Amino acid sequence: MQLADRYGRVATDLRVSLTDRCNLRCQYCMPAEGLDWMADDETLTDEEVARLIGIAVTRLGVKDVRFTGGEPLLRKGLPRIVAATRLLGARTSLTTNGLGLRHLAGPLAKAGLDRVNVSLDTIDAATYTGITRRDRLTDVIAGLEAAAEAGLKPVKVNAVLLRGVNDHQAPELLKWCLARGYELRFIEQMPLDAQHGWQRDAMITADETLELLSESHRLTALDGRGSAPAERFLVDDGPQVIGIIGSVTRPFCGDCNRVRLTADGQVRNCLFAREESDLRSAMRAGATDVELAERWVIAMASKRPGHGIDDPTFLQPARPMSAIGG
Ligand code: 5AD
Ligand code: SF4
Repeated sequence: MQLADRYGRVATDLRVSLTDRCNLRCQYCMPAEGLDWMADDETLTDEEVARLIGIAVTRLGVKDVRFTGGEPLLRKGLPRIVAATRLLGARTSLTTNGLGLRHLAGPLAKAGLDRVNVSLDTIDAATYTGITRRDRLTDVIAGLEAAAEAGLKPVKVNAVLLRGVNDHQAPELLKWCLARGYELRFIEQMPLDAQHGWQRDAMITADETLELLSESHRLTALDGRGSAPAERFLVDDGPQVIGIIGSVTRPFCGDCNRVRLTADGQVRNCLFAREESDLRSAMRAGATDVELAERWVIAMASKRPGHGIDDPTFLQPARPMSAIGG
């Protein structure tokens, strides 16, 4: 069995959200007061998550497993879940805001984690606090250092640029990452915030990002994007590269190889899907591994060809990004 859809795409990259909670409150993600978090009994246990990952890897052809949130470092069982996934033979990675990584990078590397992506939109402390509503920049920087030291390489940094907030700091952030050997990736802001405040005009596009950066750096496009969302560019003739993820203006849906599992055990065939398939209820009602795998295959078959953000009929998914996983 494999996770194929009607357009010839096959999902081999599983994104697992381990919690919808977060210790930051990024403006483009959630309101200052946070959200109504998922109830404990709705959240999969470590054993349940490991079982579903096991089904995906051993029966459905999944090769890469990325752990996300909310903030996945808040999940106590993370090292155990990583170790269980590694034992299955999948490659493992983590998308994190970096808080707590200072202490967890070592244990996670030991558990078999391969790589991390750390979200960092600015290295200016005041701007960081403005965007995330928390004064935690020094923790993120320490987390990045710990990740590199633990060998979780290449360490990648994810940045979202917001017009009039941190867009003019993009070259500075790039220089900072280059000096430390971190691979920087800019992600276009997507309509996935809980407050439904996304506005197309406020989004810094991939083209604008390239323009901002080319004031101080020579960027040369590299071929071979494959199913990776990032278009990569050599910086000043290399060897270092940056990535630009034009989710909105340069969609890569046609090459998508991703599938998502939420912390409450719902399969989503797309970040922007409006339907989910409830594996948790089936599992708790006693479904076998084969039955769960079959449900998963059916859930993929209805994957739509694209996200349609540019379509006038586009509707933002009911769940915000923090409850889906990036
Ligand atoms: N658009 C684009 N990226 C987002 N992220 C969170 N919300 C959005 C959004 N609305 C980013 C985070 C993190 C990754 C999981 O996705 O900054 O790097
Ligand atoms: Fe937390 Fe990530 Fe949302 Fe920021 S974007 S509030 S770090 S889940």
